[in-house]
Amino acid sequence: MHPLLNIAIRAARRAGDGIARQAKRLDHLTVTAKQRNDFVTEADQQAEQVIIETVRKAYPDHAFLAEESGASGSSDTCWIIDPLDGTTNFIHGVPQFAVSIAVQVAGRLEHGVIYDPMRQELFTASRGNGAFLDDRRIRVSACRHLRDGLIATGLPYRDFTHIDAYFGMLRQIMLESSGIRRAGSAALDLAWVACGRHDGFWELGLQPWDIAAGMLLVQEAGGVTGNLHGQPRCLDEGNIVAGNPAMFAALVREIGPHLEQR
Ligand code: IPD
Ligand code: CA
Ligand code: CA
Repeated sequence: MHPLLNIAIRAARRAGDGIARQAKRLDHLTVTAKQRNDFVTEADQQAEQVIIETVRKAYPDHAFLAEESGASGSSDTCWIIDPLDGTTNFIHGVPQFAVSIAVQVAGRLEHGVIYDPMRQELFTASRGNGAFLDDRRIRVSACRHLRDGLIATGLPYRDFTHIDAYFGMLRQIMLESSGIRRAGSAALDLAWVACGRHDGFWELGLQPWDIAAGMLLVQEAGGVTGNLHGQPRCLDEGNIVAGNPAMFAALVREIGPHLEQR
């Protein structure tokens, strides 16, 4: 295993174990609103600290892009971290959240880890080496037609700029697919596309830390990620479509045109 992936796993497990402990004492938790519908808890902050400390110990010179502490350091190697993806679920005791860590080297995603501390499921990927759930190799689903596909999404809840376009997309996918899920953690949505539980996923307005690790997982599991027009760059844009190749193409076809009609 690549040493960078090894450290990413160690960091994700440590952070996840802390989150799982705090999930049992939600009544003691301090919740702060960063802005409307954007919450942070001590669990998010402590998890981020644990991850950064673990990485710094092994790689003191690397850079970070982390949700709670922002960008720091200057290096070719950057750790993109969402310490707790799915904070709203976490606060409500809904057991659907994860730690997401990606390692970008010279602008390219090389390693990704998503750890679900409630199910103790560890999703990992390194470029060129495939994607894994624990020790098992995973692949995207074999679903070929959107009408048979189970599609995950994220509903807008902070930024409503594209709400009308989004409703158009939602309507279209409702009509064309076999079902839609909004589980509340973009990182897990992508990990679940990678292991074939979901056939596809789309969401608008995400941040790099929500999707970096998940994008690599989907790609290494044989899937495709891109923006709503099917172009590969979506990490900085934040509008993402992901799926097995057939589902990706179908989602781009059905969803893409709605973004222009706002
Ligand atoms: C959020 C989750 C959610 C998605 C939001 C994200 P957070 O991340 O991934 O599923 O719909 O857009 O911001 O704030 O819980 O880390
Ligand atoms: Ca997030
Ligand atoms: Ca978060």
